[in-house]
Amino acid sequence: RKTAPLPDDIRAMKGGTPIVSLTAYTTPMAQLMDAHCDFVLVGDSVGMVLHGLPSTLGVTMEMMILHGQAVRRGLRSAMMVVDMPFGSYEESPEQAFRNAARIMAETGAGAVKLEGGTGMADTIGFLTARGIPVMAHIGLTPQSINTLGGYRVQGRGEAGDGLVRDARAVAEAGAFAVVLEKVPEALADRITETVAIPTIGIGASAGCDGQVLVVDDMLGLFTAFKAKFVKRYAHLGDDAETAIATYATEVRARLFPAAEHVFADTPPGRG
Ligand code: KIV
Ligand code: NA
Repeated sequence: RKTAPLPDDIRAMKGGTPIVSLTAYTTPMAQLMDAHCDFVLVGDSVGMVLHGLPSTLGVTMEMMILHGQAVRRGLRSAMMVVDMPFGSYEESPEQAFRNAARIMAETGAGAVKLEGGTGMADTIGFLTARGIPVMAHIGLTPQSINTLGGYRVQGRGEAGDGLVRDARAVAEAGAFAVVLEKVPEALADRITETVAIPTIGIGASAGCDGQVLVVDDMLGLFTAFKAKFVKRYAHLGDDAETAIATYATEVRARLFPAAEHVFADTPPGRG
């Protein structure tokens, strides 16, 4: 792909080859995934993954904009979606528009993502009617951790119908895609069959229209905990720690720097 897909292009991938997405928070990581992902999500998971916060509730607009700008510089062929942080959109559609417009204008995002189902439908409609493409996020919505009462699977049993209603509501309001986080596989499949927009699963089902993972989780860089739905494709944290320990040993033994890392008093001839 030469140019980044638009939200409508992502919407049109419903039912086709699965949509590929990862989170990114920095330019170099964005560059690594640009050619492989359809869209890159600047998730508010940045708060926990890079800033050591205990949850996503402390993430600010300024953090999302700074990381959005960094990621944007690393992308050419993938679309960028930026999370709206906790407290930046729940109060009213007007508040949501003001902050979403700032994110779009200051980061060059192709869309914003916000958490919520039926309760956010009016806001999603308000934003899309005013030129801001919205990705919805339902199921386990980490910004509501204090009312959800923990990070458990959402929509089991009777509660499944509520999530189907949420998915319908965000689709009808104009969301171009919806993230389903930590819901039973069968429910994810049912929602995927029910709604006309792509479902992007994380802890959901291989039957979703796409998948997303937190990149530091799948690379083994974030190891404070591992959710069941995370697959570790690499162990870069272990590699990094081994490298750091080796460096420390070599410095203390005066083995680093070696001859090839130091400079002579006179520059080498150009023979
Ligand atoms: O913030 C994030 O990383 C997310 C994904 C897990 C969907 O919202
Ligand atoms: Na998020």
